[in-house]
Amino acid sequence: MTKKIINKRYEELITIIDKHNLLYHTYDSPEITDYEYDELYLELKNLEKNNSSIIKEYSPTQRVGSSLLESFEKRNHEYPMLSLSNAASQDEFNEFHKKISIKIKKNNFELFAEPKFDGLAVNICFENGRFRYATTRGDGFIGEDVTHNVKTIKTLPLKINTSRLPDKFDLRGEIFIDKNDFMLINKKLSQDNEKEYSNPRNLAAGSIRQLDPLIASSRNLKLFIHGVSDYASFFEFKTHSDLMAHLSNLGFPVNKHSKIITNLEDCYDYFFQMSNIRDSIPYEIDGLVYRVNDFSKYNSLGFTSKSPKWAIAYKFKSLEAMTRIKSVTYQVGRTGAITPVAELDPVNIGGVSVSRATLHNFSEIRIKDININDYVYVKRAGDVIPDIDRVELKRRKNIKRIVVPKICPSCSSELKRENNQVALKCINSKKCRPQIEGSIIHFISRKGMNIIGIGNQIIKELIEKKLIKRTADIYRLREDDFNKLDRVGPKSIKNYMSAIDKSKNVSFNKFIYSLGIKEVGETSSKSLSIEFKTINELVRCSLDKLIDINDVGPIVAKNIVHYMNDIDNKQNIGDLLKYGVEISYSKNIKYNKYAVITGIFENYSRERLKNNLESIGYNVTNSISKKTNILICGEKPGNKLSKAKDFKIKIVYEKELSKLLSESR
Ligand code: IVH
Repeated sequence: MTKKIINKRYEELITIIDKHNLLYHTYDSPEITDYEYDELYLELKNLEKNNSSIIKEYSPTQRVGSSLLESFEKRNHEYPMLSLSNAASQDEFNEFHKKISIKIKKNNFELFAEPKFDGLAVNICFENGRFRYATTRGDGFIGEDVTHNVKTIKTLPLKINTSRLPDKFDLRGEIFIDKNDFMLINKKLSQDNEKEYSNPRNLAAGSIRQLDPLIASSRNLKLFIHGVSDYASFFEFKTHSDLMAHLSNLGFPVNKHSKIITNLEDCYDYFFQMSNIRDSIPYEIDGLVYRVNDFSKYNSLGFTSKSPKWAIAYKFKSLEAMTRIKSVTYQVGRTGAITPVAELDPVNIGGVSVSRATLHNFSEIRIKDININDYVYVKRAGDVIPDIDRVELKRRKNIKRIVVPKICPSCSSELKRENNQVALKCINSKKCRPQIEGSIIHFISRKGMNIIGIGNQIIKELIEKKLIKRTADIYRLREDDFNKLDRVGPKSIKNYMSAIDKSKNVSFNKFIYSLGIKEVGETSSKSLSIEFKTINELVRCSLDKLIDINDVGPIVAKNIVHYMNDIDNKQNIGDLLKYGVEISYSKNIKYNKYAVITGIFENYSRERLKNNLESIGYNVTNSISKKTNILICGEKPGNKLSKAKDFKIKIVYEKELSKLLSESR
């Protein structure tokens, strides 16, 4: 190869790899397989190995520097990094809208709206098309140089085309960590006996403030660019949306949920839509940012000392209140895990009186430094059990440490910590009342045997009165037995009996789920029901076979073998069949169809969609080929959609998904 050809291929590889990093990490829509990506990366590495003089600092291989920093240098921001004013209510938002409308003498005007990312603000400087440095917000005027760590963020292009841009400019953005990565990283930190972080934002901040770039690079930090420091210098652009589209085209990570809004009512619609999908978005957002789209209005709108008047943050309602922890009790779960629970002075949060909040586990108590008598902020989100966010240290007095119990609060047997996990466990599963209750309640639940109408209280009473001890006993209950319960009339008894009878016909996967084997959820139950022909085969399963199954890792496999080797469990399964439970086995699925996914889905994460498709026999692949049978298409699809149309491949949209997934069962 001549030098010219080598250089050309080198630059080409950098551009291609940058593009695929962005597709994979920011837009969750890879167009090539991991294998193909690795091949490209290897080609680049080999080119560099054989031609060391061509190595450029903007190559993807150069993201992680080798030197450790001694400390962080400080840097002045050329333009201060301001905050946003907040709208805490519709009235305050109306006020913002009205003020602008008066100032610019128009009732309707364009607003550019997008999520407010709950991360860490960063200023990123480019000069002559090259990444120069990155600075944290600091006090808004002076920040810390974190160039070495920001450079490890794979989705930040290090070299760009400079068309229509000033020679030197600063971008503003937010660095964050996906919710899922946060959990994985914390798990790993805890296994290594290191300090865990209390939320993804703190983890992102902690990762950026590392002196060793290797640590930051291992944290899978992500970035969204949401603006620039000096709009006036971007005179080629008239609106924020134009500028963002251009930055996106140049390869910068720009959020795809943004929207241009032209009237007040649509602002609320967008707020409503985004609140609905907030939980399904892979990263934390804590509200929305609305800003005037037209740059020519910025000057006349101006600034307060802290924030621009052309933008506002409309935060999601955090249902939060402060109260005192009176005491701590301990709950025993279905699998024996002990959960500490804070008993609170009752407090009203968003119209609901809250007197208890989960403390999750003892590691969480340590991290958040929570004690009895502490005043704490309690958060309530939807139906989720209230949670303690943080302690109000200013009101701390007469605190008492929360002790780690040694024995089970229910059956008094000694508690253990299994496989280095954070949770304390009672392993006396067969005699410990809450565990028996939990396992029977799980057995009858909707995703399991689906015995409709029998509530948790009835189960507890049946156990209390010694009418049932294990799940199979349910199928031996007679009307007389229900008559022994308090306040249960003949009509309810008829309903209970008929619900029990109806539940006897059950699919194999639901039967497996209902057994309540530790860590065997819906997805792994489905995989097991595909891999094993009958329940008898599953009872006799071997560790080796289990480990080979999709969605069954070594720990889950061990749990299954352990469960199936237990004489009482075997007896219980045998009795369930003896008392009339009939398992229907669907024909074993052959993986002979191919599906590709593109776009964003309101009700499915990528992971869930993939699992569901696999459970009905699809191989899910990354790119469209002649083999592809269907394209599952969400909002904002990538170019896979036009490719699929070219190949005349069947396209299934989100609203048709539930039909597809249930028909093929
Ligand atoms: S626009 C003058 N857009 O929120 C600041 N900010 O509370 C204009 N933030 O410091 C900022 N997501 O770091 C904007 N989509 C978004 C944002 C966002 C998060 C942060 C930003 C800013 C802080 C203000």
